[in-house]
Amino acid sequence: MGNLKGKDILHGNQFSKKDIDAIIKIASNFEKELKKKDSLTLLRGKILATLFYEPSTRTRLSFETAMQRLGGGVISMGSVESSSVAKGETLTDTVRTVSQYADVIVIRHPRTGSAREAADAVPIPVINAGDGTGQHPTQALLDIYTIHKELGSLKNLVVSMVGDLKNGRTVHALVELLSLFQARLYFVSPGSLRMPEEITSGLKEKGVEIEETEDILEASNASNLIYMTRIQKERFADLTEYERVKGSYIINEEFLKKLKNKIIILHPLPRVDEISPEVDTYPGAAYFRQVRNGVFVRMALLAMVLGRIP
Ligand code: CP
Repeated sequence: MGNLKGKDILHGNQFSKKDIDAIIKIASNFEKELKKKDSLTLLRGKILATLFYEPSTRTRLSFETAMQRLGGGVISMGSVESSSVAKGETLTDTVRTVSQYADVIVIRHPRTGSAREAADAVPIPVINAGDGTGQHPTQALLDIYTIHKELGSLKNLVVSMVGDLKNGRTVHALVELLSLFQARLYFVSPGSLRMPEEITSGLKEKGVEIEETEDILEASNASNLIYMTRIQKERFADLTEYERVKGSYIINEEFLKKLKNKIIILHPLPRVDEISPEVDTYPGAAYFRQVRNGVFVRMALLAMVLGRIP
């Protein structure tokens, strides 16, 4: 078993294959247990605090669901405007305060490196729920869990990552995990939204096979999985550049007809227009199953960092 007791979860590169095997096994056990009962008692008496300085639907609610399904309690800072952050309180003062109430903190913040800064300030585990354009490691873990479930294995993966690879913290974290399984990667993006050079060079140093292209169809026809991402309007300093690249890649019925083989389609969500709603009934469209898996994986992570592994 990977041992995450007392650890922070900050970056995709902190995990070993052994950790991932353990997380998949524990999450899978929770998934089975929740088919038999609504909730468990493993984390009774423990409190999770959610501090979200940026919008979220899935990550915050799935962590809160995970904690409650495990019998624990949840406190939330609420919106930035309704908290003392609006009065100018620093990040470290806020997390130091919250660590007096909670046993584990989940934080999302617009600044890259902020989760590590929070973790350094407190003795309890801090989980990075997205730090700017940096990392989103728990999303990557639920993506890996979903890939394992959908394809039955993490071997022989060929993945097309499509869209905003420059700003997408989900892909920045997921490539770290995929690199452990010798996945072959296609990076499909407009030129201005390419995967950051420090990430591609780090992957190449690890021996990961990467091809960068702007051709989604060619890449998809060589892959067994498409990982679609949203072009992140909120990260653009120049909105005319956003207008130029938005809608660069759209998966719709017409695109599906051009695919040579059945493929799995994942997306961290939210989507805007990059996957048309008509695709939702395609058997390989797994993005809402992916959402559900987030609860089991986050249950596993909370149980592990709090030292109550079943
Ligand atoms: N995938 C994801 O991080 O979704 P939210 O922004 O809704 O949390």
